[in-house]
Amino acid sequence: MNILVTGGAGYIGSHTSISLLNAGHSIIIADNLSNSKIETISRIEEITNKSVIFYQIDVTDEDSVERVFNTHQLDGVIHFSGLKAVGESVEKPLEYYHNNIVSTIVLSNMCLKYGVRKLVFSSSATVYGQNVVPFAEYMELLPTTNPYGATKIISERILTDVANANSDLAISLLRYFNPVGAHESCLIGEEPNGVPNNLMPYITKVARGELSVLKVFGNDYDTVDGTGVRDYIHVMDLAEGHLAALEKLDNGVNIYNLGTGKGTSVLEMIKKFEEINRIPVPYEIVDRRVGDIALCYADASKARRELGWETKRTIEEMVRDTWDFAKTL
Ligand code: NAD
Ligand code: UFG
Repeated sequence: MNILVTGGAGYIGSHTSISLLNAGHSIIIADNLSNSKIETISRIEEITNKSVIFYQIDVTDEDSVERVFNTHQLDGVIHFSGLKAVGESVEKPLEYYHNNIVSTIVLSNMCLKYGVRKLVFSSSATVYGQNVVPFAEYMELLPTTNPYGATKIISERILTDVANANSDLAISLLRYFNPVGAHESCLIGEEPNGVPNNLMPYITKVARGELSVLKVFGNDYDTVDGTGVRDYIHVMDLAEGHLAALEKLDNGVNIYNLGTGKGTSVLEMIKKFEEINRIPVPYEIVDRRVGDIALCYADASKARRELGWETKRTIEEMVRDTWDFAKTL
């Protein structure tokens, strides 16, 4: 297939691009490089020994996107591009609503206009809000506390309405849990700008000595050791989940959790990182972070049953690959 990958220079998009190319698909990446680097494109080519067509465009700009649809005969779109920092979304709600929702509307519109039937969308476990774990696809979505989460709920709704109105469309809403790790080549990985919001990038900055101490946000949750529990998934497993979803896409809306089904606490993650990488990660317990939930992990059975996909990589591989990549920076 010939697949347009929006946000393909970013963390998850670049790893998925590798899986797509290795499976024999051709890709066109559209990215404005607002949170990524141009070098990532040549690294994808180096890892796969295949070439990539790249457009540096803003996916909210319909004319630019239309030029891509006009130039290439596409079989499908994977829509990764978007802004993703929860805290920043509270400060800049309009930027988040504009960037994340307009891009979804523009791409759906182009798919309809150019007869592109397959569309895969990057959603998030955040749409489950305060539901009871494990989160399953049939659960009602609960209001989130931040604009970022709202953009995912709204985009899911838009795509569902579009699929309902156009019966030949095949749309997949993939709800990611917590992606970590890097490609085994160490040529690509996660490179957040500034002080990281997420746990793993923060841990690596502390391990490298760039930040002095990891703040653990609360140890009084009702969890195994009081710290927050999440379903960490190796980014290459996540990438392979996209391939499975794309290749098995049925008409209508297909919703899948992409997670391992297992929860790991913050303290367990720190301990694993220290043990596997033999490097200390100093931490201190501080207050809970506003908006955090205690437990977030997937019921991963639907993707296993229907897509024949399940995660293969362990927590040990996640912390090892994260660190091996971080050491190259
Ligand atoms: P990322 O920031 O690394 O990648 C996003 C890419 O999109 C970047 O390369 C950025 O330059 C590009 N981009 C942003 N706005 C654009 C625009 N208007 N036009 C063109 N390009 C644009 O993020 P990621 O972690 O790879 O996330 C990919 C998707 O997955 C996002 O939609 C994100 O919300 C979603 N997601 C991520 C996580 C996570 O923890 N990383 C969890 C759940 C869902
Ligand atoms: N944590 C700390 N200290 C830090 C950073 C995080 O203790 O410096 C804790 C959090 O409190 C939480 C856990 O580590 O218990 C994971 O936090 P992250 O910020 O890494 O991830 P979240 O689960 O909060 O959110 C992430 C993405 C969201 C996405 C969600 C999907 O940031 O965009 O996963 O589950 F929606």
